[in-house]
Amino acid sequence: MELYDYFGGEGTIRKIVNAFYPKVLAHPLLAPIFPEEIEPLIEKQYQFLTQFFGGPSLYTEQHGNPMMRARHAPFPITVKHAEAWLDCMQRALEEVVSSKEMRTIILERLKGPAYFFVNKQGEE
Ligand code: HEM
Repeated sequence: MELYDYFGGEGTIRKIVNAFYPKVLAHPLLAPIFPEEIEPLIEKQYQFLTQFFGGPSLYTEQHGNPMMRARHAPFPITVKHAEAWLDCMQRALEEVVSSKEMRTIILERLKGPAYFFVNKQGEE
């Protein structure tokens, strides 16, 4: 069984991304680098996290090889951005996933990629 199945699959990931992006757009550090029209990104993130957590390969079917670090390269991402992204995700998970243990597992799995996407030095 995959993590995807444990935490309730499709419905849970929908709820997570729907709770996550309003927090991103309200975050002073993150909002400026994200598009105002967020719906297409919500859909892509839904597809990506579905396959990232072991569900069907929705992202690859629609958009090809994820190459996520390369796809983030156009945006300046510091450690502060990675921490802010993870903080928004933690708050989204608190709203959606009732098990604290499950929330910790999900967040730990996302920390690797978040820090891997850092491509700029500095505090801002
Ligand atoms: C480290 C902090 C992060 C920042 C600042 C960030 C920022 C962004 C930005 C600005 C975009 C492009 C939005 C647009 O279309 O204009 C994007 C796309 C995306 N991000 Fe992130 N991101 C971060 C971490 C992550 C993580 C940890 C994941 C998943 C594990 C992720 C998954 C995605 C996906 C799936 C897309 C859509 C890629 C596509 O265009 O197909 N991001 N991100």
